Parts: sequence; C-alpha cells; structure tokens
Amino acid sequence: MSQPVLRLEHVVKDYGSVRAVDDVSLTVWPGECFGFLGPNGAGKTTTIGMVLGLLHPTAGRIEVLGRPVTPRHTAALREVGALVGAPAFYPYLSGRAHLDLLRRLYPDLPPSRVDEVLEQVGLPPQAARRPVKTYSTGMRQRLGLAAALLHRPRLLVLDEPTNGLDPIGMAEMRALLRQLAEGGMAIFLSSHLLHEVQQVCDRVGILYRGRLQAVGPVDELLQGRRDLEEVFFDTVAAASSARPRA
Ligand SMILES: Nc1ncnc2c1ncn2[C@@H]1O[C@H](COP(=O)(O)OP(=O)(O)OP(=O)(O)O)[C@@H](O)[C@H]1O
Ligand SMILES: [Mg+2]
Repeated sequence: MSQPVLRLEHVVKDYGSVRAVDDVSLTVWPGECFGFLGPNGAGKTTTIGMVLGLLHPTAGRIEVLGRPVTPRHTAALREVGALVGAPAFYPYLSGRAHLDLLRRLYPDLPPSRVDEVLEQVGLPPQAARRPVKTYSTGMRQRLGLAAALLHRPRLLVLDEPTNGLDPIGMAEMRALLRQLAEGGMAIFLSSHLLHEVQQVCDRVGILYRGRLQAVGPVDELLQGRRDLEEVFFDTVAAASSARPRA
C-alpha cells in the first residue's frame, strides 16, 4: 500500500490547563478526502495549526509523507497547501499579482501556472486583473484556494473553506475537491457543513472535546442512519453523556 500523506499519532495539545486536543491519531491517504468534524471548540483548528507547523504539540507526532512536522521541522510543508478561514490579501493588488508574487517563491513554477490555477478555481482572467478590494467573499475564497494550490501540494488542508460561498460556489468547490482527490491529492477538510462533507469526503472523523470519537468511511458511519448530521448528533450525544461537562 502507498504511504500515508498525513499521519497523526497520539497528538495532544494543552493551552495551560485546557486540553484542546486529546490523543488524536489518524491517517489520510493519497486520493482521499478526509472530513474533520466537531462542534465549536472541539479542537479542529488547533489540530490544523499543528499540522501546518504553527503550533507545537504538547505530545505525539505529526508526519507529512513520512517526515515530521513541528514549528522547527517545516521542510515537509513544501508538500502542503492550506486555506484556513478567510485569507488576507493586499487590497490594492490584483488576484493575479498575488499569485504571481507567490509563484516567484518557487523557482520551478512557470508563469503559466498562475493561469492554470485561476482556471481551476473558476476566477475569470478579467476578474483576476482587478484589485482584491473589489472582490466578493466567494472570489476571495477562490483566490485563497488558488494560492494554496499554486505549488502543486500533495496535501491540501482546508479549515471551513466554503464560509461565505453561495450554493453555486459551494457546488463548484465540491466538484473541484473531488477532482483534486481523484488526481491523487490528499485533502484534510474541516467544516460544519455536514451535507457538504457527506457529499465530498471518503472518510470522516468526529472530534468532541479534543477526542476523536468516531472515524471511518462515510458509508460505514451511516449504518442505516439518514445522513451525516444524524451520525454527528448521535456521536456527540454519546460522548457527552460518557463525559459530562464539568
Ligand atoms: N490560543 C489559545 N489559548 C487558549 N485556549 C485556546 C486557544 N486556542 C483555542 N483554545 C481553546 O481550545 C479549544 C479548541 O479550540 P479550536 O479553535 O481548536 O476549536 P475548533 O474545533 O476549531 O472550533 P470552531 O468550530 O469554533 O472553529 C477551545 O476550548 C478553545 O477555547
Ligand atoms: Mg475552528
């Protein structure tokens, strides 16, 4: 079998006395879209911060393509693209200028790569020439995704990427994520939009108060239940009755 693109082993993160991530282990394989779910405050963004080498795990190990990731070991992040929340841009620069600046950081990327990613995310050339301050929320998210894809990462990490997208934008984002996964990319997607996740992800994990309470292929987790929303509610209810809030 091929090597996992992302592996978390017994990862823990404490903020002072608060345990935000509690012994999380999971793997994401090439060509797989993994949905990372959980209620507000469950520890999703904290986990993503560690995967991106922005936060030190208190314990455990994170690997991308077999190489460790920590704030001091970031070489493996060359293989990672990320879109976390609403991306920040220079308001007076065009979308294309942003991508071109970024592209220059990677000597092996030809100028035509900018056109490729613009097309991939559905930003028309005319729009790409306008200053970002004129962009709608959906256009900003598309530009953020284009920036994340520019260097042809093998792992794409997305924290709530469809925030602010209209239903058409969401459907396009779904199709793009499926296309990227089918091309072999591994996708780690955190979202509260369970309907979206059910349509786009192969496997999901449900985090509750820092612990991974359920993980598996969407079909297996459904087990006769109507949808992922029902699985989510059942999983959170079972976990909260086992560990009532202090
Ligand atoms: N810098 C910080 N200092 C202290 N506590 C923090 C910090 N960042 C997050 N936390 C706490 O860690 C826990 C997990 O937060 P996190 O942001 O990872 O959750 P999340 O699953 O991303 O939530 P949401 O769905 O609201 O984005 C929460 O209890 C939060 O209050
Ligand atoms: Mg979050």
